[in-house]
Amino acid sequence: MKDTQMTKVVVVNALRPRKEVIDEVADVLRSGGLCAFPTETVYGLGADGFNQEAVLKIFRIKGRPPDNPLIMHVDSKEMLNELVVDVPEIAYRFMEFAWPGPLTLVLKKSTKVPKEVTAGLPTVAVRCPGHPIALALITALGKPIAAPSANLSGRPSPTNAKHVIDDLMGSVDVIVDGGETFFGVESTIIDVTSEPPKLLRPGPIAVEDLIKVLGREIEVPPFARGLAESETPLSPGTKYRHYSPNTSLLLVELSDYSDLNFLVTAVLSHANELMRKGLKVGIIASSETSNHYRVRGFEVLTLGSRSNLFEVAHNLFDVLRLSDTLGVDAVIVEGFNEVGLGLAIMNRLRKAARYRFSYSS
Ligand code: TXA
Ligand code: MG
Repeated sequence: MKDTQMTKVVVVNALRPRKEVIDEVADVLRSGGLCAFPTETVYGLGADGFNQEAVLKIFRIKGRPPDNPLIMHVDSKEMLNELVVDVPEIAYRFMEFAWPGPLTLVLKKSTKVPKEVTAGLPTVAVRCPGHPIALALITALGKPIAAPSANLSGRPSPTNAKHVIDDLMGSVDVIVDGGETFFGVESTIIDVTSEPPKLLRPGPIAVEDLIKVLGREIEVPPFARGLAESETPLSPGTKYRHYSPNTSLLLVELSDYSDLNFLVTAVLSHANELMRKGLKVGIIASSETSNHYRVRGFEVLTLGSRSNLFEVAHNLFDVLRLSDTLGVDAVIVEGFNEVGLGLAIMNRLRKAARYRFSYSS
Protein backbone atom coordinates (compact mmCIF):
# COMPACT_ATOMS: atom_id res chain seq x y z
CA MET A 1 0.00 0.00 0.00
CA LYS A 2 1.34 3.43 -0.89
CA ASP A 3 0.44 6.35 1.34
CA THR A 4 -0.06 9.34 -0.95
CA GLN A 5 -0.36 12.75 0.62
CA MET A 6 0.80 16.35 0.55
CA THR A 7 4.44 16.74 1.46
CA LYS A 8 5.63 20.06 2.84
CA VAL A 9 9.26 20.95 2.13
CA VAL A 10 10.74 23.39 4.64
CA VAL A 11 14.17 24.94 4.21
CA VAL A 12 16.02 25.24 7.52
CA ASN A 13 19.41 26.80 8.28
CA ALA A 14 21.57 23.83 9.28
CA LEU A 15 23.67 25.76 11.78
CA ARG A 16 20.92 27.82 13.41
CA PRO A 17 17.60 26.04 12.99
CA ARG A 18 14.70 28.36 13.90
CA LYS A 19 12.84 27.14 16.96
CA GLU A 20 9.34 27.87 15.56
CA VAL A 21 10.01 25.72 12.51
CA ILE A 22 11.53 22.88 14.54
CA ASP A 23 8.56 22.96 16.94
CA GLU A 24 6.15 22.71 14.03
CA VAL A 25 7.96 19.65 12.63
CA ALA A 26 8.10 18.10 16.12
CA ASP A 27 4.30 18.55 16.33
CA VAL A 28 3.93 16.57 13.11
CA LEU A 29 5.95 13.73 14.67
CA ARG A 30 3.98 14.01 17.93
CA SER A 31 0.74 13.50 16.06
CA GLY A 32 2.03 10.34 14.37
CA GLY A 33 3.38 11.89 11.15
CA LEU A 34 6.64 11.20 9.34
CA CYS A 35 9.37 13.68 8.58
CA ALA A 36 12.66 13.47 6.70
CA PHE A 37 15.48 15.49 8.24
CA PRO A 38 19.22 15.93 7.81
CA THR A 39 21.78 14.34 10.09
CA GLU A 40 25.55 14.72 9.79
CA THR A 41 25.70 11.36 7.95
CA VAL A 42 22.67 11.04 5.65
CA TYR A 43 19.03 12.18 5.77
CA GLY A 44 16.80 10.18 8.11
CA LEU A 45 13.10 9.30 7.80
CA GLY A 46 11.83 9.92 11.31
CA ALA A 47 8.86 8.94 13.44
CA ASP A 48 8.09 9.20 17.15
CA GLY A 49 10.06 6.19 18.38
CA PHE A 50 7.35 5.24 20.89
CA ASN A 51 4.49 5.35 18.35
CA GLN A 52 4.11 1.84 16.89
CA GLU A 53 1.75 2.90 14.09
CA ALA A 54 4.07 5.68 12.95
CA VAL A 55 7.04 3.32 13.05
CA LEU A 56 5.18 0.77 10.91
CA LYS A 57 4.45 3.53 8.39
CA ILE A 58 8.23 3.98 7.90
CA PHE A 59 8.57 0.35 6.82
CA ARG A 60 5.61 0.65 4.44
CA ILE A 61 6.78 3.85 2.80
CA LYS A 62 10.37 2.72 2.31
CA GLY A 63 9.39 -0.77 1.19
CA ARG A 64 11.68 -1.94 4.00
CA PRO A 65 11.66 -5.62 5.00
CA PRO A 66 9.96 -5.84 8.43
CA ASP A 67 12.88 -7.76 9.98
CA ASN A 68 15.36 -4.91 9.41
CA PRO A 69 15.40 -2.86 12.65
CA LEU A 70 15.64 0.92 12.98
CA ILE A 71 18.03 3.19 14.87
CA MET A 72 16.68 5.21 17.80
CA HIS A 73 18.03 8.78 17.77
CA VAL A 74 18.45 10.40 21.20
CA ASP A 75 19.62 13.84 22.32
CA SER A 76 21.39 12.75 25.53
CA LYS A 77 22.59 9.89 27.69
CA GLU A 78 19.50 10.44 29.85
CA MET A 79 17.24 9.71 26.90
CA LEU A 80 19.41 6.70 26.03
CA ASN A 81 19.01 5.32 29.55
CA GLU A 82 15.26 4.91 29.04
CA LEU A 83 15.87 2.64 26.08
CA VAL A 84 18.53 0.25 27.32
CA VAL A 85 19.54 -2.04 30.19
CA ASP A 86 22.85 -3.60 31.28
CA VAL A 87 24.99 -0.97 29.55
CA PRO A 88 28.63 -2.11 29.65
CA GLU A 89 31.24 0.42 30.78
CA ILE A 90 32.84 0.40 27.33
CA ALA A 91 29.63 1.76 25.79
CA TYR A 92 30.00 4.91 27.87
CA ARG A 93 33.61 5.27 26.74
CA PHE A 94 32.53 5.05 23.09
CA MET A 95 29.80 7.65 23.75
CA GLU A 96 32.32 9.93 25.42
CA PHE A 97 34.55 9.58 22.37
CA ALA A 98 32.02 10.08 19.58
CA TRP A 99 28.70 11.54 20.79
CA PRO A 100 27.06 13.58 19.55
CA GLY A 101 28.24 12.12 16.29
CA PRO A 102 28.16 9.31 13.72
CA LEU A 103 28.46 6.30 16.05
CA THR A 104 25.56 3.89 16.70
CA LEU A 105 25.72 1.49 19.63
CA VAL A 106 23.79 -1.78 19.75
CA LEU A 107 22.74 -2.43 23.36
CA LYS A 108 20.26 -4.62 25.26
CA LYS A 109 16.84 -3.00 24.98
CA SER A 110 14.49 -2.01 27.77
CA THR A 111 10.77 -2.85 27.73
CA LYS A 112 10.00 0.74 26.65
CA VAL A 113 11.29 0.14 23.12
CA PRO A 114 8.49 -1.03 20.80
CA LYS A 115 9.16 -4.36 19.08
CA GLU A 116 8.36 -2.67 15.75
CA VAL A 117 11.54 -0.59 16.10
CA THR A 118 13.85 -3.54 16.81
CA ALA A 119 12.08 -6.05 14.56
CA GLY A 120 11.63 -8.26 17.60
CA LEU A 121 15.35 -8.36 18.52
CA PRO A 122 16.39 -8.20 22.20
CA THR A 123 18.77 -5.35 21.31
CA VAL A 124 18.30 -1.76 20.13
CA ALA A 125 20.58 0.44 18.02
CA VAL A 126 20.94 3.96 19.46
CA ARG A 127 22.79 7.05 18.36
CA CYS A 128 22.99 10.70 19.34
CA PRO A 129 23.38 12.64 16.08
CA GLY A 130 25.69 15.65 15.87
CA HIS A 131 23.58 17.67 13.42
CA PRO A 132 21.92 20.78 14.95
CA ILE A 133 18.60 20.14 13.15
CA ALA A 134 18.44 16.48 14.18
CA LEU A 135 19.33 17.29 17.79
CA ALA A 136 16.86 20.18 17.98
CA LEU A 137 14.07 17.98 16.60
CA ILE A 138 14.64 15.21 19.16
CA THR A 139 14.74 17.76 21.98
CA ALA A 140 11.58 19.47 20.75
CA LEU A 141 9.77 16.12 20.55
CA GLY A 142 11.12 15.12 23.96
CA LYS A 143 11.28 11.51 22.84
CA PRO A 144 13.63 9.38 20.72
CA ILE A 145 13.15 9.54 16.96
CA ALA A 146 13.19 6.18 15.18
CA ALA A 147 14.75 6.73 11.78
CA PRO A 148 16.32 4.75 8.98
CA SER A 149 17.95 6.52 6.05
CA ALA A 150 15.34 8.48 4.05
CA ASN A 151 15.65 6.53 0.79
CA LEU A 152 13.45 3.90 -0.78
CA SER A 153 14.76 0.51 0.33
CA GLY A 154 17.72 -0.59 -1.79
CA ARG A 155 18.50 2.88 -3.19
CA PRO A 156 21.59 4.89 -2.27
CA SER A 157 21.08 6.83 0.99
CA PRO A 158 20.11 10.51 0.54
CA THR A 159 22.75 13.14 1.21
CA ASN A 160 20.69 16.16 0.16
CA ALA A 161 17.01 17.14 0.11
CA LYS A 162 16.72 16.52 -3.64
CA HIS A 163 17.56 12.84 -3.11
CA VAL A 164 14.81 12.65 -0.47
CA ILE A 165 12.32 14.44 -2.71
CA ASP A 166 13.14 12.02 -5.56
CA ASP A 167 12.36 9.02 -3.32
CA LEU A 168 9.71 10.19 -0.85
CA MET A 169 7.79 13.21 -2.20
CA GLY A 170 4.10 12.53 -1.68
CA SER A 171 4.61 9.83 0.93
CA VAL A 172 5.82 11.75 4.00
CA ASP A 173 4.38 14.77 5.83
CA VAL A 174 7.46 16.99 5.92
CA ILE A 175 10.89 17.11 4.33
CA VAL A 176 13.30 19.37 6.20
CA ASP A 177 15.85 20.70 3.70
CA GLY A 178 19.01 21.50 5.64
CA GLY A 179 21.35 21.30 2.66
CA GLU A 180 24.00 18.66 2.06
CA THR A 181 24.98 16.28 4.83
CA PHE A 182 28.54 16.43 6.13
CA PHE A 183 29.94 12.90 6.02
CA GLY A 184 27.79 11.36 3.29
CA VAL A 185 27.94 7.78 4.61
CA GLU A 186 25.85 6.34 7.44
CA SER A 187 27.04 6.03 11.03
CA THR A 188 29.47 3.42 12.23
CA ILE A 189 27.54 0.67 14.05
CA ILE A 190 29.17 -1.31 16.84
CA ASP A 191 27.56 -4.10 18.83
CA VAL A 192 28.76 -3.79 22.43
CA THR A 193 26.64 -6.71 23.64
CA SER A 194 29.12 -9.17 22.16
CA GLU A 195 32.63 -9.90 23.41
CA PRO A 196 34.80 -8.64 21.81
CA PRO A 197 32.61 -5.80 20.51
CA LYS A 198 31.68 -6.33 16.88
CA LEU A 199 31.66 -3.83 14.04
CA LEU A 200 28.33 -4.24 12.21
CA ARG A 201 28.77 -1.37 9.75
CA PRO A 202 31.85 0.79 9.10
CA GLY A 203 31.21 4.54 8.94
CA PRO A 204 32.75 7.94 9.67
CA ILE A 205 34.11 6.86 13.08
CA ALA A 206 37.03 4.68 12.00
CA VAL A 207 37.36 1.23 13.56
CA GLU A 208 41.06 2.02 14.10
CA ASP A 209 39.98 4.84 16.47
CA LEU A 210 37.47 2.63 18.29
CA ILE A 211 40.22 0.04 18.85
CA LYS A 212 42.36 2.78 20.43
CA VAL A 213 39.50 3.80 22.74
CA LEU A 214 38.84 0.17 23.69
CA GLY A 215 42.49 -0.77 24.07
CA ARG A 216 41.95 -4.16 22.45
CA GLU A 217 40.66 -5.76 19.26
CA ILE A 218 37.23 -5.28 17.75
CA GLU A 219 35.77 -8.05 15.62
CA VAL A 220 35.38 -6.99 12.00
CA PRO A 221 33.28 -9.73 10.36
CA PRO A 222 33.47 -10.13 6.56
CA PHE A 223 29.99 -8.62 6.10
CA ALA A 224 31.21 -5.36 7.71
CA ARG A 225 33.63 -5.15 4.80
CA GLY A 226 30.75 -5.81 2.42
CA LEU A 227 32.27 -9.17 1.53
CA ALA A 228 29.72 -11.76 2.62
CA GLU A 229 26.11 -11.74 3.62
CA SER A 230 25.42 -12.47 7.26
CA GLU A 231 22.63 -14.91 7.93
CA THR A 232 22.53 -14.21 11.66
CA PRO A 233 19.51 -12.35 13.03
CA LEU A 234 21.97 -10.11 14.89
CA SER A 235 22.50 -7.84 11.93
CA PRO A 236 19.61 -8.27 9.58
CA GLY A 237 20.52 -5.15 7.64
CA THR A 238 23.43 -7.03 6.19
CA LYS A 239 21.12 -9.46 4.37
CA TYR A 240 19.78 -7.05 1.82
CA ARG A 241 21.06 -5.45 -1.35
CA HIS A 242 21.83 -1.84 -0.75
CA TYR A 243 22.76 1.47 -2.27
CA SER A 244 22.16 0.29 -5.80
CA PRO A 245 21.77 2.57 -8.77
CA ASN A 246 19.50 1.12 -11.45
CA THR A 247 22.42 0.92 -13.86
CA SER A 248 24.58 -2.20 -13.44
CA LEU A 249 27.63 -1.39 -11.34
CA LEU A 250 30.93 -3.21 -11.74
CA LEU A 251 33.61 -2.70 -9.07
CA VAL A 252 37.32 -3.10 -9.85
CA GLU A 253 39.41 -3.68 -6.72
CA LEU A 254 43.15 -3.98 -6.19
CA SER A 255 45.02 -5.51 -3.25
CA ASP A 256 46.80 -2.16 -3.01
CA TYR A 257 46.41 1.11 -4.86
CA SER A 258 50.01 2.31 -5.03
CA ASP A 259 50.17 1.66 -8.78
CA LEU A 260 47.31 3.66 -10.31
CA ASN A 261 48.44 2.83 -13.85
CA PHE A 262 47.63 -0.79 -13.06
CA LEU A 263 44.17 0.27 -11.84
CA VAL A 264 43.50 2.32 -14.99
CA THR A 265 44.60 -0.59 -17.18
CA ALA A 266 42.28 -3.01 -15.33
CA VAL A 267 39.31 -0.62 -15.57
CA LEU A 268 39.93 0.03 -19.27
CA SER A 269 40.17 -3.67 -20.06
CA HIS A 270 36.73 -4.23 -18.48
CA ALA A 271 35.35 -1.16 -20.26
CA ASN A 272 36.65 -2.39 -23.62
CA GLU A 273 35.23 -5.85 -23.07
CA LEU A 274 31.78 -4.40 -22.31
CA MET A 275 31.97 -2.11 -25.36
CA ARG A 276 32.81 -5.09 -27.58
CA LYS A 277 29.49 -6.55 -26.38
CA GLY A 278 27.80 -3.39 -27.67
CA LEU A 279 27.24 -1.80 -24.25
CA LYS A 280 27.66 1.89 -23.46
CA VAL A 281 29.97 2.31 -20.46
CA GLY A 282 30.42 5.01 -17.81
CA ILE A 283 33.20 5.19 -15.22
CA ILE A 284 33.27 6.40 -11.61
CA ALA A 285 36.84 7.36 -10.78
CA SER A 286 39.08 9.26 -8.41
CA SER A 287 40.35 12.71 -9.38
CA GLU A 288 43.84 11.19 -9.84
CA THR A 289 42.66 8.89 -12.65
CA SER A 290 39.52 10.42 -14.18
CA ASN A 291 41.29 12.14 -17.09
CA HIS A 292 42.70 8.83 -18.33
CA TYR A 293 39.12 7.73 -19.03
CA ARG A 294 37.80 11.09 -20.20
CA VAL A 295 40.39 11.41 -22.95
CA ARG A 296 39.28 8.02 -24.24
CA GLY A 297 35.72 9.33 -24.63
CA PHE A 298 34.07 7.73 -21.58
CA GLU A 299 31.41 9.46 -19.50
CA VAL A 300 33.17 9.95 -16.16
CA LEU A 301 31.94 10.89 -12.69
CA THR A 302 34.61 11.89 -10.18
CA LEU A 303 34.34 11.00 -6.49
CA GLY A 304 37.28 13.03 -5.23
CA SER A 305 40.91 12.56 -4.37
CA ARG A 306 42.38 9.32 -3.02
CA SER A 307 44.25 11.45 -0.51
CA ASN A 308 40.97 12.90 0.81
CA LEU A 309 38.60 10.05 1.61
CA PHE A 310 36.21 12.49 3.34
CA GLU A 311 35.60 14.03 -0.08
CA VAL A 312 35.07 10.60 -1.63
CA ALA A 313 32.60 9.52 1.11
CA HIS A 314 30.81 12.88 0.94
CA ASN A 315 30.20 12.50 -2.81
CA LEU A 316 29.65 8.73 -2.95
CA PHE A 317 25.85 8.41 -2.83
CA ASP A 318 25.25 11.47 -5.00
CA VAL A 319 27.56 10.02 -7.64
CA LEU A 320 25.85 6.59 -7.42
CA ARG A 321 22.51 8.29 -8.00
CA LEU A 322 23.97 10.40 -10.83
CA SER A 323 25.22 7.28 -12.58
CA ASP A 324 21.59 6.58 -13.53
CA THR A 325 21.51 9.84 -15.47
CA LEU A 326 24.54 9.08 -17.68
CA GLY A 327 22.49 7.18 -20.22
CA VAL A 328 24.88 4.20 -20.16
CA ASP A 329 24.26 0.46 -19.82
CA ALA A 330 26.93 -0.22 -17.22
CA VAL A 331 29.14 1.76 -14.88
CA ILE A 332 32.60 0.68 -13.73
CA VAL A 333 33.74 2.05 -10.37
CA GLU A 334 37.29 2.11 -9.01
CA GLY A 335 37.97 0.64 -5.56
CA PHE A 336 39.73 2.44 -2.67
CA ASN A 337 42.16 1.50 0.08
CA GLU A 338 40.31 -0.02 3.04
CA VAL A 339 41.96 2.26 5.60
CA GLY A 340 40.07 4.72 7.84
CA LEU A 341 36.98 5.93 5.99
CA GLY A 342 38.03 3.67 3.11
CA LEU A 343 36.48 0.71 4.94
CA ALA A 344 33.07 2.44 4.89
CA ILE A 345 33.50 3.44 1.25
CA MET A 346 34.38 -0.11 0.17
CA ASN A 347 31.53 -1.61 2.24
CA ARG A 348 29.05 0.62 0.35
CA LEU A 349 30.64 0.02 -3.06
CA ARG A 350 30.73 -3.77 -2.62
CA LYS A 351 27.08 -3.80 -1.60
CA ALA A 352 26.09 -1.54 -4.48
CA ALA A 353 28.05 -3.46 -7.12
CA ARG A 354 26.45 -6.21 -9.16
CA TYR A 355 29.86 -7.54 -10.23
CA ARG A 356 33.17 -7.39 -8.44
CA PHE A 357 36.67 -8.06 -9.82
CA SER A 358 39.75 -8.15 -7.58
CA TYR A 359 43.35 -8.00 -8.75
CA SER A 360 46.65 -8.33 -6.92
CA SER A 361 49.00 -5.68 -8.22
O1 TXA B 1 23.81 7.45 9.96
C1 TXA B 1 22.88 6.68 10.16
O2 TXA B 1 22.99 5.66 10.90
C2 TXA B 1 21.55 6.97 9.48
C3 TXA B 1 21.01 8.28 10.04
C4 TXA B 1 19.63 8.61 9.53
O3 TXA B 1 21.04 8.22 11.44
N1 TXA B 1 20.61 5.91 9.67
C5 TXA B 1 20.70 4.73 9.01
O4 TXA B 1 19.67 3.85 9.29
O5 TXA B 1 21.60 4.46 8.25
P1 TXA B 1 19.40 2.55 8.41
O6 TXA B 1 18.11 2.04 8.93
O7 TXA B 1 19.47 2.87 7.00
O8 TXA B 1 20.51 1.56 8.87
C6 TXA B 1 20.49 1.06 10.19
C7 TXA B 1 21.20 -0.24 10.27
C8 TXA B 1 20.48 -1.36 9.54
O9 TXA B 1 21.43 -2.07 8.78
C9 TXA B 1 19.94 -2.23 10.67
O10 TXA B 1 19.90 -3.58 10.32
C10 TXA B 1 20.95 -1.98 11.78
O11 TXA B 1 21.23 -0.61 11.65
N2 TXA B 1 20.36 -2.22 13.10
C11 TXA B 1 19.36 -1.54 13.69
N3 TXA B 1 19.05 -2.09 14.88
C12 TXA B 1 19.88 -3.13 15.06
C13 TXA B 1 20.07 -4.09 16.09
N4 TXA B 1 19.32 -4.10 17.18
N5 TXA B 1 21.04 -5.02 15.92
C14 TXA B 1 21.81 -5.01 14.81
N6 TXA B 1 21.69 -4.14 13.79
C15 TXA B 1 20.74 -3.21 13.91
MG1 MG C 1 19.60 2.68 5.06
